[in-house]
Amino acid sequence: MADLIYLPVKNVQYGDLFDWSVPVERCKSRTVTLSPTKSPRKDGLIVLKDKTGNGTLAQENEQDIALFRFKDTVYAVRENCPHLGGPLHLGEIEELADSLCVKCPWHGWKIDLKDGKVKFPHGHDVTTVVFPVKVTENGQIYIGFDRLAEKYFHVEDSEF
Ligand code: FES
Repeated sequence: MADLIYLPVKNVQYGDLFDWSVPVERCKSRTVTLSPTKSPRKDGLIVLKDKTGNGTLAQENEQDIALFRFKDTVYAVRENCPHLGGPLHLGEIEELADSLCVKCPWHGWKIDLKDGKVKFPHGHDVTTVVFPVKVTENGQIYIGFDRLAEKYFHVEDSEF
C-alpha cells in the first residue's frame, strides 16, 4: 500500500472535540431526528435541532469528513451516510459488543468507525470510507489520504 498523505484539519483541534466516552458530556448531546423525507420545510431546508455535543464536520482534501472523539482516539469517517447520504457528524456514537459505531440521524444505520462497515441493519454488505487520523502533542489533527484532490494539481492556463 502506498504511503498516505496526512493533511492538517484547519478548523478543528483535538480539544474542540466532544468526548463520547464521558457520560456527562454524552448527556449534553442532542439527537437529530428530522429527516428530509419525513419533515421537509416548504422552502426545502432541513431544520436541525440543537446539535451541541455531536460530531464535528471537517472539510479537507475536497471531502466532507465527520470527526468523533472517543477517549483519546479521534475517528474520521466520510460525512455522507452510505445509505442515503445523511449527515453522519450529527449522529450519535454507540458502543456495540464488538465495535464503536456512529448512528446516522436519518434512518439509524450504524457504521463501524474503525473499518467503515455497516453493522446495522444486518445483511447490508456496504462499507464507507474511514480515514486514518494522527494527533500531535499540541492537539493538531491530521487526516490521512491515499491521494490528493484534483485542486492541488490544477494549474491556470495563464501560468504558461
Ligand atoms: S441516510 Fe439513511 S441511515 Fe443514513
